[in-house]
Amino acid sequence: MYEQASHALMNEILAELNPELGNYRLRHFYTRLGANFYSIHRLFQLLYGTRPDFKQHMVRLVETMAFRYIERLPHLRRSDLARERDYNWFMSQKWVGMALYCDRFAGDLRGLRARLPYLQELGINLLHIMPMLDCPPQHSDGGYAVRDFHKLDARFGTIEDLDALAATLKKREMLLVLDVVVNHTSNEHEWAQRARAGEQHYQDYYYVFDNRDTPDLYEETMPEIFPNTAPGNFTWDEQMGKWVMTVFNEYQWDLNYHNPAVLVEMVDIMLFWANKGADILRLDAVAFLWKKIGSTCQNEREAHLLLQLMKDCCQVTAPGVLFIAEAIVAPAEIAKYFGEDALSAKECEIAYNAVLMSLLWDGVATKNAKLLNLGTGNLPQKLERATWLNYVRCHDDIGLGFDDNDARLAGYDPAAHRRFLVDYFTGRFASSPARGFPFGENVETGDARISGALASLVGLESALESGDEQAITAAVDTILLLHSVILSFGGIPLLYGGDAIGMLNNLEYLADPLRRNDSRWVHRASFDWTKAARRHEKGTVEQRIFSGLKKLIALRKETPAFADFDNRRMIDTGNPNLLAYCRTDIRTPASCVLVLCNFNNEPQVLDTGVLKAIGLCRQDALTDIRAGERIRVENDALLIPPLAFFWLME
Ligand code: GLC
Ligand code: GLC
Repeated sequence: MYEQASHALMNEILAELNPELGNYRLRHFYTRLGANFYSIHRLFQLLYGTRPDFKQHMVRLVETMAFRYIERLPHLRRSDLARERDYNWFMSQKWVGMALYCDRFAGDLRGLRARLPYLQELGINLLHIMPMLDCPPQHSDGGYAVRDFHKLDARFGTIEDLDALAATLKKREMLLVLDVVVNHTSNEHEWAQRARAGEQHYQDYYYVFDNRDTPDLYEETMPEIFPNTAPGNFTWDEQMGKWVMTVFNEYQWDLNYHNPAVLVEMVDIMLFWANKGADILRLDAVAFLWKKIGSTCQNEREAHLLLQLMKDCCQVTAPGVLFIAEAIVAPAEIAKYFGEDALSAKECEIAYNAVLMSLLWDGVATKNAKLLNLGTGNLPQKLERATWLNYVRCHDDIGLGFDDNDARLAGYDPAAHRRFLVDYFTGRFASSPARGFPFGENVETGDARISGALASLVGLESALESGDEQAITAAVDTILLLHSVILSFGGIPLLYGGDAIGMLNNLEYLADPLRRNDSRWVHRASFDWTKAARRHEKGTVEQRIFSGLKKLIALRKETPAFADFDNRRMIDTGNPNLLAYCRTDIRTPASCVLVLCNFNNEPQVLDTGVLKAIGLCRQDALTDIRAGERIRVENDALLIPPLAFFWLME
């Protein structure tokens, strides 16, 4: 958009830019700056307009974008141009992701490069490598307490190793996802060190207070994220003699985005990693970016403005690079991280679908799809050019973040139901085969989340122990069932580390005093390559899971109806144990794939009236594309075996 005042400012700023910039060819930079400047200026003004040094910071921001543009390598610029033309590229069904810890999976970056064939064998072509930046070894929060945003932890290798990996991924047409931890730094980051040494300039990078007055005000409305291991949201720093805001662990200092210098620094860091070849940046804990007294300090309007600003800046320098929002928040809030009041995504193109994740776990425990149908049906509308990251579990705890109202409509008391789910997955519930652990139990509020490897949570661990074949089959089927949903729902499926070979809980972390209180480590074990080798031995659980997933992934890629173009319709089957939705191929809207999932451990019946109502009238010609077989419909009823699913087409 053209608007006089902002255009005049842009011209002024361009005149003031570092003269060195004049030496470079910046054609695409200028056209993109022109296209985004109005919005950048407006947002910067909304956030920082009252400051006398406003323009100075704007100049710094534009310079940052320009210098990072100059640094951007020719092949990345070419990819930017190609993705501008094919702007919906990431909505395709061809992408299937996995998140893993480089060291725990393959030792280091070189090892990871050598292990790519394993990922390709499964069909993975999007790789989220958990954070690898320099962190204090004792206090790293699994890589999320960064001490130096430009330096890899030497354990993983060198920047050259990462370059080599990025180049190999590109050749194999795989996408690279890297984290940028935007909300906080380690207390050993240089900024924090200088703040501690008394430099006001760096104390202004954080929320620092002389006494408890302001912290106490904040605490009135701020929830606790790690209530048992890091209670409270502020930490006393002895050296500085002041309180500092630490929402997560006490060694993670929250960055203060009320200061524009912080925003400029973080944009610079994002663009640095974009230039290292990341196709997608995962922005960590984005819901927390803006703190305001009297609020929960989550999902604030300004947090959204900051993300829009970050996106606009990225569009100027590295427009081919996408953002993933890690905002594990309430259903009504989650879709706002795509942006509001816009047609296409203007914040993050991709967001973790924490709602679907929690609903899937509800289905596992209750053995029905009541809440799943309600919750997925009420999932907020996305914008165009926005897509979900659908996952069964990730490296973090499982939060039960479904909507209370949906829970009531399903006939539950929300608090009591959440207690049941925690009891179920932590094995406190008598008949439960699950072997999870509680995480973040809050005695005051009664809240709790769940840790545990997928296989252990669905009962594989207990079934293997007792040697109960039927229970083993039920667990394997549940693993495939859950993945069948994330692969067909619409969005990018993201598998987690060892789940494709059914890795179980690992209790080694209990021996480590620094980790023993953080049960998330139970599902962050080192990848077991001996177990992985059994994926080729017929009849082993590893083979059953791996080959089942491999087949589903391949099928997803061949099925255009699974691309994400607002082409899913939830179907009411009248049977509460079934989750059902139709996916249409937007190129041939008359045809659809009906996804039917039975969450119950008894066979379930679908009345064929439902099939007719959605236009699947030729019942003798219904094929389950997964089995490649015709489905038999008898006496107007379609029978779905326990914990099974169909992908049906006419
Ligand atoms: C994110 C990460 C989580 C970490 C937290 C604090 O949510 O996924 O592992 O503990 O941020 O950085
Ligand atoms: C994330 C989430 C929270 C999660 C935490 C640590 O930012 O918001 O739900 O429990 O980090 O795992």
